[in-house]
Amino acid sequence: MGVLMINKSIVKKNILIILFMVIVWSCSSKTVADSTDELDITKAHYILSKMTIDDKVGQMTQVARDYLESYEDIKTYRLGSILSGGGSAPPNNSVKGWREMTSKMQDYALSTPLGIPLLYGSDAVHGHGNLRNAVIFPHHIGLGAANNEKLVEEIAKITALECAATGVNWNFNPCITVPQDIRWGRTYEGFSSNPEIVSRLGVAEVKGLQYNWNSNISVLACLKHFVADGGTNKGIDRGNSIISDKELEEIHLYPYYEGIKANAGSVMASFSKINSVPMHQNESLLTGRLKNDMNFQGLLVSDWAALTLLPGSSKDQIAAAINAGIDMVMVPDKYKEFINNLKELVKEGRIPEKRINDAVLRILTTKIKMGLFENPKADPELESLVGSDSSREVAREAVAQSLVILKNDKVLPMYVGQRVLIVGEFANDLGAQCGGWTTTWQGKLGNNNNTGVTILKAVNEALGKQNVVYLKDSRMLNKTDLSEFDLIIYVTGEEPYAEMNGDNPYPSLSRVDMKIIDTLDKSGKKTLLLLISGRPLLLDGAEEKVDAIVASWLPGTEAMGITDVLMGWKEAKGRLPYSWPADSKGFVQGLTSDKYLYPIGYGLSL
Ligand code: GLC
Repeated sequence: MGVLMINKSIVKKNILIILFMVIVWSCSSKTVADSTDELDITKAHYILSKMTIDDKVGQMTQVARDYLESYEDIKTYRLGSILSGGGSAPPNNSVKGWREMTSKMQDYALSTPLGIPLLYGSDAVHGHGNLRNAVIFPHHIGLGAANNEKLVEEIAKITALECAATGVNWNFNPCITVPQDIRWGRTYEGFSSNPEIVSRLGVAEVKGLQYNWNSNISVLACLKHFVADGGTNKGIDRGNSIISDKELEEIHLYPYYEGIKANAGSVMASFSKINSVPMHQNESLLTGRLKNDMNFQGLLVSDWAALTLLPGSSKDQIAAAINAGIDMVMVPDKYKEFINNLKELVKEGRIPEKRINDAVLRILTTKIKMGLFENPKADPELESLVGSDSSREVAREAVAQSLVILKNDKVLPMYVGQRVLIVGEFANDLGAQCGGWTTTWQGKLGNNNNTGVTILKAVNEALGKQNVVYLKDSRMLNKTDLSEFDLIIYVTGEEPYAEMNGDNPYPSLSRVDMKIIDTLDKSGKKTLLLLISGRPLLLDGAEEKVDAIVASWLPGTEAMGITDVLMGWKEAKGRLPYSWPADSKGFVQGLTSDKYLYPIGYGLSL
């Protein structure tokens, strides 16, 4: 450690000399912000000047923790970043368990000659979904219905804190996709099919996530997936967006302009193609448009093993992606092979060293700007703030604001004293409420994954348990005496899914749902259909058979927000972020409003 200390003090002394010179020069002409940027870039250039090709290639390599053969490899291969993919967590999935894991990883990174700290990434797309007992907020689709920038910024600040407490300093969010076809499995990761809403809320999320750089809550945001991931033909995930320049500009690029102006520090490339050109090798968009025209100065990361989907050999794929503008590669598994291939490509001249240096400078400048060198590890002081009541109150408010009342024929508001039958397994299932990217990549049904309040619990609390009967198995409905009830609530929708597993050529209520709804229709009772789903679902006439319909999207852990609105205690502010199809033609967004059962922006107040 003695030798290492000498190196570091030499490095520090030289940096100080350079910094002094730059300060003297810059104080004369630039603002503080400019001079800070200048200093950051100077520091980055200085570190770059000390880097070997191994250091450089290592910084461009991101490895998934599940595939990291040993923490020693972080040091040996000079890795720049580690990530947790969906559901990837330490065996002790607690704040302490995460903190110990990420801090140990940082120790290996900091023990390298240049001591460059790691970026540790995770998809905290609606709260820190990989962390048990984190607060889980509504997915983006619900926040789009709420359409409230201040709320989104507040949620993002809480998410940043809960990430930072675990040593996750890179959140692969906001997804600023603008889904144009609700058959896509990632519709719920989009705020809306309206690019203006996506842009405003995306900026709010960037501001919230990156609100406290150079502190113990320093988190890097990531605009994704660049670009037109939500424009693919028939909503096929990772498919082909056959779009005009006008659509590209006005729908899909639109949110990136403001996101970049908001200083989002990273962008993730999309798996999809535009007019048959894979985004990960689209130099004109990745470099020409994003980096040059739009002046994006942060780091551009590839998506999970996306290079392997490009044509040609492994080396062809790497050369195409890096030369197109990818700065860091989410390998995420065969990192040794990747590193060897990349070094060979540089030696062979197939990737210019200038491109490598540009990529590494972007990575280093980002780490410096975030203050990662000063705060590389999770601060134990933050642990007690994770999952707090105040954070859950924010989530509850978000749920309330996200709810959209589609129909209300003298059912809402509910009132204390009503006898209510609540039907369906989704009424008592936190996993259903949370959806994908929660505990596991795909999400999972059940109540043992998170701390939270189910819809059933919320209804019991609101009406009094003595006034509520729960029928979990909806198939028993026609064997149940309904005469004593004033209202029947049927809770149904979609089971959790993520990405391609959510692609659905015909997103609709199920046949079982339609049978239940027919029974409800014949009951002569007031009925409420409460939906949990990642997108609008075809109702196929159910809207005529129930008295009220409420879309709750994927509300997360705090279902009290639902009863807050159903009881009339909070305003019904939510408005549709996507047009609701009347038939299969309506899956495509942006058509004339007569093509839809309920148009975008629709929603009833109480
Ligand atoms: C996934 C997703 C991307 C996510 C990444 C890391 O495949 O496309 O949104 O950030 O991998 O989990």
